[in-house]
Amino acid sequence: MKILAIETSCDETAVSLIEASGDISESTFTVLGDTLLSQAKLHAKFGGVYPNLAKREHAKNLIPILKQTLKDANALEEGNTNIYEEELSHILEREPELLKQMILFLQNVKKPNIDVIAVTNGPGLEPALWVGVNFAVALSYVWNIPIIPVNHMEGHVYASLIKRKGKNFSLSAPKFPLLALLISGGHTELIATKDLQSYKLVGQTRDDAVGEAFDKVARMLDLPYPGGPEISRLAKMSRKRKDSSRDITLPRPMLNTKDCDFSFSGLKTAVLYAIKNLEMTTDVKEKFAREFEDAVVEILIKKTKRAIDETKARTLVIGGGVSANDAIREAFERLVSADMPDLTLHTPAQGLSTDNAIMIGISGYFGHLAGKNIDPADLTAKGNLRLSG
Ligand code: KG4
Ligand code: ZN
Repeated sequence: MKILAIETSCDETAVSLIEASGDISESTFTVLGDTLLSQAKLHAKFGGVYPNLAKREHAKNLIPILKQTLKDANALEEGNTNIYEEELSHILEREPELLKQMILFLQNVKKPNIDVIAVTNGPGLEPALWVGVNFAVALSYVWNIPIIPVNHMEGHVYASLIKRKGKNFSLSAPKFPLLALLISGGHTELIATKDLQSYKLVGQTRDDAVGEAFDKVARMLDLPYPGGPEISRLAKMSRKRKDSSRDITLPRPMLNTKDCDFSFSGLKTAVLYAIKNLEMTTDVKEKFAREFEDAVVEILIKKTKRAIDETKARTLVIGGGVSANDAIREAFERLVSADMPDLTLHTPAQGLSTDNAIMIGISGYFGHLAGKNIDPADLTAKGNLRLSG
């Protein structure tokens, strides 16, 4: 089965075409085409993602990205297609530029061989999500292809299970219960599942997401957006120099509470106060980056350990943009190999921790197998969509 996947929930515009077969116990995938454009540089000027700018950029770039993906997949063939201009204008009435580009493009190409369109419909920035959703509905209408909505966070869970071999990959069939620690710019949550179909919330942040804390602390240290990779780079320098870890101490909020919840806002504020009267030399910034990262690692490990005990998890998945962080990955690898030999740990392959459309395609494929197709007329973008019911 061929799945066209669309992702626009934040500041990455991504479209991929993947071929999928099998079920969760044994599945294989081929990436036929995959194009991703990050807007990070544009948003960097503002120190964070601006939803309306993100929306405009998605609308401007979706057609060129679709075209590239279809071209790479050898699925772009010239031809005449009836585009039902009036209906299309209605579907894309809020995206006039996208509408214009879409009409020009679609009327001159043949319907490609695609079985289902998977699109992220939440959670994320609502204006950004809507562009992807309307785009998917328009394509579904013109090409008469069913739509499957995908929860972005479920996409991150699948991204961690992928075993990549170039353009081909398979999924590691997980043992259940599976516990997912999802850490991104908008989320920090521990989710348990027995089947990758229904999910239970085990713990979550009560204030900032961990990626948000990385980005905000980076900003305080005058580092560019996105701050996660920058903090990680500076922290490594401090560790390499073997700075004394007691030079700077930051709090570990909620470390000892008897639940699986998190809080990162106090940690961020502690950095703000601590740097107030300090000269921000590279050396000082590196020490702060390291102590901040150490605090995050300690909190994530302790709460996840607790959640593993509570859920009796046999598989641990770390997903979301922050899972690209080396210190976090290494800490979890140490934990599992030293203390939890029966637990299988999965982290995303290179390039699949941050947002992408491949993970949306895989999630859409399994959603389709489970009969989660939706009438395009009923599809809406939901900024606060939850994975756990
Ligand atoms: O999943 P993602 O691409 O987008 C959201 O759905 O939010 O995650 C983006 C977040 C940003 O906050 C970014 O700073 C963080 O992931 N991030 C990292 C690293 N790479 C990206 N945080 C820590 N260390 C990294 N190496
Ligand atoms: Zn994400």
